[in-house]
Amino acid sequence: MTAAEDALVRIAEDVQQGLQSDLFRSATNAVPGEGPADAKIMFIGEAPGFHEDRQGRPFVGAAGQFLDELLSLAHLKRSDVFITNIVKYRPPNNRDPTPEEIAACKPYLDQQIAAIDPRVIVTLGRFSMNRWFPGGKITRIHGQPRRVEGRLIVPMLHPAAALHRPENRPLIEADFRRLPEILAEAERHETEASSGSDTDDQEPQQLSLF
Ligand code: URA
Repeated sequence: MTAAEDALVRIAEDVQQGLQSDLFRSATNAVPGEGPADAKIMFIGEAPGFHEDRQGRPFVGAAGQFLDELLSLAHLKRSDVFITNIVKYRPPNNRDPTPEEIAACKPYLDQQIAAIDPRVIVTLGRFSMNRWFPGGKITRIHGQPRRVEGRLIVPMLHPAAALHRPENRPLIEADFRRLPEILAEAERHETEASSGSDTDDQEPQQLSLF
């Protein structure tokens, strides 16, 4: 097992333990997230829903089926990517996660990002977007990659938003179709950085390539 795989197993165990917290009393199963430890791209949603809570796996309900279709538009397979959520336990009745729940789950997500060290992170919906772009308007910034601490963060609409409002569907599909290009750009930047011709930026920076 690689160090990253080992770290992900330990994080998943910690997430499992977290189910005992009073804060997450109504959840049935913890949903740590899943995917390879060397994934180049990570998708971060909001919180588990009914089916995810039942199965302990992320994005397995209707939004998850649509996410699978979107991944194929980006020529990606589920088995190539890491999928998780900002909050690892289902909020009662699928209500929005609270700041307290988000804060309680932050160390898990921080550790997952550190272990996987993905080139690209796609945030799905406003809760994960807010982590990098607090106060950002998803309708304005969706699909536009920004470089943050050496990786590209791409805010996108939540797949469920496209299911609830069919007029959003072409928009999220177009954003997913651009992912291969964004991944290639991230790879190019990594190669340049490792050859010493670039420096990491600490501030969010909009890319000029699109
Ligand atoms: N919606 C999310 O944000 N995450 C899931 O895992 C499922 C639905």
